[in-house]
Amino acid sequence: MENHQQQNTRAQWGSRLGFILAAAGSAVGLGNLWKFPYITFENGGGAFVLVYLGAIVLVGAPIMIAEVLLGRKTQRGPVGAFRLLGRDRPGGVAWTGVGILGVVTGFVILSYYSVVAGWTLRYIVLALSGKLAPLAHDPAALQTFFGTFLSNPWQQTFFHLVFMGATVGVVFFGVGRGIERAARILMPVLFLILLALVFYVVWTPGFNQALTFIFRPNFSELTRGGVLEALGHSFFTLSLGMGAMLTYGSYMRKKTSIPRAAITVCVLDTLIAVMACIIMFSIIFSFDFEITKSSTILFTTLPVVFFKLPGGVVISALFYILVAFAALTSTISLLEVVASYAIDEFGWARRRATLIMGGSIALFGILNALSLGGVQRLSEINLIGRPSTAGVFGTLDYLASNWFLPVGGFLIALFVGWVLTKDENLQELETGHGRMKTFGIWRFLLRFAAPLAVGAIIVSVILGAEYQ
Ligand code: TRP
Repeated sequence: MENHQQQNTRAQWGSRLGFILAAAGSAVGLGNLWKFPYITFENGGGAFVLVYLGAIVLVGAPIMIAEVLLGRKTQRGPVGAFRLLGRDRPGGVAWTGVGILGVVTGFVILSYYSVVAGWTLRYIVLALSGKLAPLAHDPAALQTFFGTFLSNPWQQTFFHLVFMGATVGVVFFGVGRGIERAARILMPVLFLILLALVFYVVWTPGFNQALTFIFRPNFSELTRGGVLEALGHSFFTLSLGMGAMLTYGSYMRKKTSIPRAAITVCVLDTLIAVMACIIMFSIIFSFDFEITKSSTILFTTLPVVFFKLPGGVVISALFYILVAFAALTSTISLLEVVASYAIDEFGWARRRATLIMGGSIALFGILNALSLGGVQRLSEINLIGRPSTAGVFGTLDYLASNWFLPVGGFLIALFVGWVLTKDENLQELETGHGRMKTFGIWRFLLRFAAPLAVGAIIVSVILGAEYQ
């Protein structure tokens, strides 16, 4: 396959903040607002948060810089980037496989991520129509409602398709007029809603307990599984391991500093994850509420507590709008990886690529939508054979989070750290940055810390542990 992308016509972000907004939009998503709070809860708080912060600094940030570097240096998506740079080096064209794995991973993650994102649409409708209030006053009824909703094939499919439609609608308009513009509107709104909610919970009785839970480490709570989970999550939350940041980096101008931009994105992502924890735990600790199933906190616990507080309708509606916006800027980045692959490699026009790829993912995703109880055969499939991997949804999520992303991230770290030369790296990172004093630290972390840590995840998954 020839590469049809002309280097000098590649789209670019329209402003200096373009990359940062879009990349932060990709990073901030259900991982921050849904997954991070509940895994923090399951792992006992403080100590887990500390390990997570360590993973972001020592593993996540260096790999983020490496991905963006690959994209901007080659001006190509993951497949093109690895083919171009791998060609005359050890490993040769086999490196292209890393790019292809990335595109496949984007396809797979988007197909189920959009189903969960769809749930937030259902809850926005519920909150605004006044139907959430009565449910929230009866926790058992809410639980039943959620269960019935999950196993309703029509509703699951409908909201998934609506969310995919919104995603396609943005990517259709391209890098500047679509993705960047959406991020420029959605990200500030998202941040303002978060700030408003944080100010709100400062006055709730559970606020202090929440801070203690999140920031006071109690290492006796920490398990080895927790450490691996923190590591794995640092990947997912920063959108690493499949070329999303690489693709966004390929639209970055040479004038922009890669290290500064990447670190800003890491800081924003972490800040928002911690804010989400403060909001949720303050509210939860304000009431004596027993959490039975933490993975559905967002949909079965939070509404109950929202409505115990003044202004429940407004707070709950705002909250689900926030989650939907965060999810949308993430699904956009997932689709962009797949669509830009068709644009670059098959020479398709953007509109065609977006519609065909987005349409295929939407169709394939229906299998996930139906596997939550709607269609028995699909919920019973369990190729991996563990309770948490049941159903098409469970299987794909397990494969993507436990295998594809860590393996992709591992190979990206190896490629940039060991196959590219020191001078090549230095040159790209100093373009738009000036002298990079921390280059040595970055390179050390990328060559040793990152592969070791990610290698540990992979080995433990092989040995049968799972961290998601
Ligand atoms: N980072 C997003 C979140 O936390 C999800 C996401 C978007 C993602 N693009 C990705 C995860 C690429 C892995 C790879 O919700």
